[in-house]
Amino acid sequence: MKLRFKIWRQENSSAQGELKSYDVDGISEDMSFLEALDHLNEELVRKDEPVIAFEHDCREGICGQCGVFINGRAHGPHDHMTTCQVHMRSFKDGDTITVEPFRAESFPVIKDLVVDRSAFDRIIEQGAYISAKTGTAPEANAIPISKEIADEAMDMAACIGCGACVATCKNASAALFTSAKINHLNKLPQGKSEAHHRVLNMTQQMEIEGFGSCTFTGACEVECPAGISLKSIAEMNARYMKAKIFG
Ligand code: FES
Repeated sequence: MKLRFKIWRQENSSAQGELKSYDVDGISEDMSFLEALDHLNEELVRKDEPVIAFEHDCREGICGQCGVFINGRAHGPHDHMTTCQVHMRSFKDGDTITVEPFRAESFPVIKDLVVDRSAFDRIIEQGAYISAKTGTAPEANAIPISKEIADEAMDMAACIGCGACVATCKNASAALFTSAKINHLNKLPQGKSEAHHRVLNMTQQMEIEGFGSCTFTGACEVECPAGISLKSIAEMNARYMKAKIFG
């Protein structure tokens, strides 16, 4: 396949960025999207031009590092998929593909397609953990958890923190991410003792970081690779009210 990539180039967070066009030949439809970017970078190396900076780690939908906007959608043309899971057969020979970094004030561009998502880390630091005494691992069946609760907590734990929810939201809201992290632990008996503290502190940090408010447009649940639904945000809001009243 022969494709034209229009890719956002930006030297650093304070430089002005722009879209630059690259005509690339020899793309196989079996390549992943990141392999196509590798292919382009190899050509740039051969021409002694600066390579395109983009993030990746696992390349199998687990780590959440590879988020970019492809033709105006977070993680590309498919629902519930990371960028590394997109294959070039999703495009046609001769297509023009526009690739941009995730756009949100709380995710400043570091270079080209790489954004700083450390705002998520700071939200995590405010309560996405349980405080436990050190020592040997407790007996696995010491605290029975029903299958239903275990499944629900596991669904929330599936959030990979990729940031697509923020990037696709017109308000740049981090409510889907934050709610998944809160609900995951607040559902479980091990997370109950710090439940109120967790929801109040993590939502407060979300606001400090400058993320917008959720207006339930639902764009986030379409792009979320883990399929986390808007119900998670409704649940977080209910937990927040309870914590405000009883916390
Ligand atoms: S590189 Fe890990 S999710 Fe895409």
